[in-house]
Amino acid sequence: MKIMITMTIVAVSIGMMSVAAIAAETGGEAIFKAKCASCHPNGGNIINPKKTLKNMKDPKAITKKIRTGGSGMAAFDAKALSDADAKLVADYIIKTFKK
Ligand code: HEC
Repeated sequence: MKIMITMTIVAVSIGMMSVAAIAAETGGEAIFKAKCASCHPNGGNIINPKKTLKNMKDPKAITKKIRTGGSGMAAFDAKALSDADAKLVADYIIKTFKK
């Protein structure tokens, strides 16, 4: 009986972990598609083709650019994109767009 309970707890926590991981993934992707993909389709840049999102490694550099914008990019304040969402989208960019 004790083993059954332990196994159930383990199974439930594994299940919860993957749900959280999936939510994070679709969250970042959904935000990117809604707010960034118009200018950065597939991680490119239709306004300044030299400034693509490919091969970015530092999430802080991305979240900083999100907040400041500039040189043709709109700035997103905390109302437009929360810190948590900015982080999600930064992680999505790093994971998704590689050279
Ligand atoms: C209105 C068009 C537009 C939108 C919308 C937009 N960007 Fe940009 N983005 C640009 C332009 C133009 C640049 C180049 C700016 C520069 O030269 O500094 C840029 C640059 C960047 C850079 C720096 C790339 C580099 O190589 O240095 C990052 C990171 C970035 N954008 C992320 C985002 C994210 C994340 C979003 C969505 C939350 C977003 N952008 C939405 C137009 C846009």
